[in-house]
Amino acid sequence: MNIRNFCIIAHIDHGKSTLADRMLQFTGAVTDREAREQTLDDMDLERERGITIKASAVSVKHVHNGDDFLLNFIDTPGHVDFHYEVSRALLACEGAILVVDASQGVEAQTVANAYMAIEADLEIIPVINKIDLPSARPEEIALEMEQTLGIPADDCIFTSAKTGQGIGELLAAICDRLPGPKGKTEAKTQALIFDSEYDDYRGVITYFRMMNGKLQVGDRIRMMGTGRVFPIVDIGKFTPKMTSYKQPIEAGEVGYMVANIKTLDDVNIGDTITRDTDPAPEPLPGYREPQQMVFCDFYPSGDTKFDELRDAIDRLHLNDASFTYQPTSSEALGFGFRCGFLGMLHMDIIQERLEREGNVGIVQTAPTVTYEVVKTGAASQNSERVMQITNPSDLPDPSQIAEVREPIVDIEIITPNDCIGDLMRLCETRRGQYVSQTYLSDSRQILKYELPLAEIIFDFYDKLKSITRGYGTMDYNIKGFRKDSLVKMDILINGTPVDALSVIVHKDKADLRGRSLLKRLKEEIDRHMFEIPLQAAIGGKIIARESIKAMRKNVTAKCYGGDVSRKRKLLEKQKKGKERMKRIGTVDIPQEAFMAVLDPG
Ligand code: GTP
Repeated sequence: MNIRNFCIIAHIDHGKSTLADRMLQFTGAVTDREAREQTLDDMDLERERGITIKASAVSVKHVHNGDDFLLNFIDTPGHVDFHYEVSRALLACEGAILVVDASQGVEAQTVANAYMAIEADLEIIPVINKIDLPSARPEEIALEMEQTLGIPADDCIFTSAKTGQGIGELLAAICDRLPGPKGKTEAKTQALIFDSEYDDYRGVITYFRMMNGKLQVGDRIRMMGTGRVFPIVDIGKFTPKMTSYKQPIEAGEVGYMVANIKTLDDVNIGDTITRDTDPAPEPLPGYREPQQMVFCDFYPSGDTKFDELRDAIDRLHLNDASFTYQPTSSEALGFGFRCGFLGMLHMDIIQERLEREGNVGIVQTAPTVTYEVVKTGAASQNSERVMQITNPSDLPDPSQIAEVREPIVDIEIITPNDCIGDLMRLCETRRGQYVSQTYLSDSRQILKYELPLAEIIFDFYDKLKSITRGYGTMDYNIKGFRKDSLVKMDILINGTPVDALSVIVHKDKADLRGRSLLKRLKEEIDRHMFEIPLQAAIGGKIIARESIKAMRKNVTAKCYGGDVSRKRKLLEKQKKGKERMKRIGTVDIPQEAFMAVLDPG
């Protein structure tokens, strides 16, 4: 049988999942009704948000020019936070289908994904999708692909995942243009892990691409990264549902295995599986640990107890090992967890899943990045000279610090021409360094900057979207750490420093940040029966102050008088609000206040 392993890569919403479904339907692997339910996006949250969070794999049979083909395709996540998963999924394939929306054209993640595919040495089939849309400009977009990515316009296949137009042609191109797998079944076993998931009953299910050798039920496998050994209890393929196989899965094939693995921590995406008794001499190249770049604390709020939060996080971690967590405590918020995420979207998803699936109330602190702190000679005599901190309140005393370094990213923005000035101003106010500006077509440009990660983790993307009226897109990659004048700013509420509100800021921006932060806090914290002073301080020196005036009369009584039902509604609303409230000293502080520190002013 001829095998073709390929992935589908695209910018978000350009129709990757819909196209995959349409191909399944075309090959008869799923019924029309099942196709409508979007087979590849399993998770509830994925469907609601309309995005693909985890990569999935499907195998289908297809007959082309009288020959039998087995097509294995891997659906990859399109968002910037999941770059690493995409890059590993690519290594499991020989070819990539690069999907571009015929009305939108090349976007930031189209470029990023295409480069990853080129780097992984994949054969690329360019696809211009959504040609049914009245605003579609397929020929123009094909030229844009040629100009920006060097992919010949003539190679493009035009499809509509909605109507099914062009799908037959695409399947033919997959069989004709993509190379078959090269690995050898007789060689020593090397299987690439490109995804994994946790199942309550079966434990971890590992998705792999057999590069060399073969494996079957009963074999003992070894994870080359961790050295851990497990017996295979089930192995099989996706057809498209998981189907057990008695016979071995051989080089070139894609499958899943269940091997009595209890936690996702034992299965690292990108790691190599080999045979315990006859191991390969070395793992497949290029594996690295996923890197958490954004950190925040979760504290229980409302009726939720610390233990309940811990159980919910433990359980969720079984499903997603790419976030980290460790117990922490804050004077202001009590006991909670310090968590690390791949990016902001990843953080939002974890928070939402905890509240929804774990049924817990959470107060979340403002996200921060990792800082590298170089200590002075004297301060580091008995400890490491360079330490990494992910929590501003862990920053040592200024007298012990030689320098503070922060993560810098290379950012690439694709934007309509007329927004370029505003975008450059945005990047400048965020301490950006200009790199380059190139034309993508007559009407759009690619703008490159170097920016501190800390300056983009909050509302940079929203600002970019509003400046470009929704047309701008961005992608970024961590470049490294760079030294700058960074200091810790403390916030005092009613005279008490609230550690969870401390932030690391650039020295030149501290005054401005301090003032705007206090203004935001003033808006978020309700009036109490007494006046509440708010202060911002650097190293004990107050740099800004505000105050929340005392309440004069009973507001509820005044506004709502005798109307009992309205009064009850108000009280219920207040109760709901209180679930995300924290009492510090004698002051009630809502969740929004903890996020206020993010406002760059
Ligand atoms: P992510 O999973 O978030 O990366 O998105 P995706 O690239 O998988 O996009 P998805 O398949 O979810 O499609 C995005 C939207 O475009 C959906 O509303 C689809 O119904 C729509 N869509 C996809 N293909 C076509 C098409 O050929 N024509 C039209 N008109 N709409 C399409």
